[in-house]
Amino acid sequence: MASPEIQRIGVVGLGAMGAGIAQLAIEAGYDVVGREVTNELGQKAQERIAHFLQRKVDKEQLGAGDRGAALERLSLTTELAALADCDLVIEAIVEDIDAKLALFAELEGIVRADTILATNTSALSVTEIASAVETPERVVGMHFFNPAPLMPLVEIVRAELSSDQAVEAAFRFGERLGKRPIRCHDTPGFVVNRVLIPLLNDCLRVLDEARVSPEDLDAAMTAGAGWPMGPCTLVDLVGIDVHVHASEALYEKLREPRMAPPPRIVSMRNAGLLGRKSGRGFYSYD
Ligand code: 3HC
Repeated sequence: MASPEIQRIGVVGLGAMGAGIAQLAIEAGYDVVGREVTNELGQKAQERIAHFLQRKVDKEQLGAGDRGAALERLSLTTELAALADCDLVIEAIVEDIDAKLALFAELEGIVRADTILATNTSALSVTEIASAVETPERVVGMHFFNPAPLMPLVEIVRAELSSDQAVEAAFRFGERLGKRPIRCHDTPGFVVNRVLIPLLNDCLRVLDEARVSPEDLDAAMTAGAGWPMGPCTLVDLVGIDVHVHASEALYEKLREPRMAPPPRIVSMRNAGLLGRKSGRGFYSYD
């Protein structure tokens, strides 16, 4: 498979991660087709991107004209068929294997034979996702970190059958977004989450063991270990549902007790305390 020159990007799912990825791509000069399931969700993502680009204008990190031009490069759709001309499609939908399998199978029938299909999954197997298509060599992982516009890393994940061309094209695209891409294989949690998920779970267990408050635990890890943000603030940012799901997925695959989500955070997830996005998690957000 000869990889095309990547110019037109599709992003499927415009939640916090998908919107962040779309923002990066339009800022880097790519045309982006963003797909959400409803017009309202698409518009919400567009407003979020417009807001963050305006903050960059306010802080003189971006010209007002460049902001306008970047926003014009983003088009919204509710139809997967609108992704037909994309050179690279990045999936950032819900972390549900069945939903991802169905999406990849449908995408394969829509895009060109040389279109690269990437998944932003945090904890599912890229190889398993690639099993939904008849051309798994075109499937790679592109795992961005939250918040995607600010975090420099992107993990370029090689699945069992990924082609060298697809992996290298995704790597070069990551560089053109201004990111620091790394190459890794499709192992549970890849590199960062393999380390970060059990570490965050340890932190959350310490809440109960040391009877420390979330504020003091966060202060401990920022003031005592140099973390840029404390673990409770970070889990609220990532989303408590996302963190529980990633922990469960890694525990299921690795059977290491530290991967299992602490009961306290499972209860929070069950109660709808999802962190920033729901307005309440370890902290309250207006
Ligand atoms: N999207 C776009 N722009 C954003 C944004 C977002 N989500 N959030 C903030 N910004 C912009 C804002 O405009 C903000 O400026 P403003 O407040 O003046 O409007 C600007 O970025 C700078 O924001 P901050 O002042 O908050 O920046 P900081 O210097 O405080 O750094 C940080 C913020 C980079 C998030 C830093 O605190 C950090 O590195 N935290 C750790 C984050 C982390 O570990 N992420 C990984 C999570 S794990 C993960 O994602 C894996 C997944 O699979 C679960």
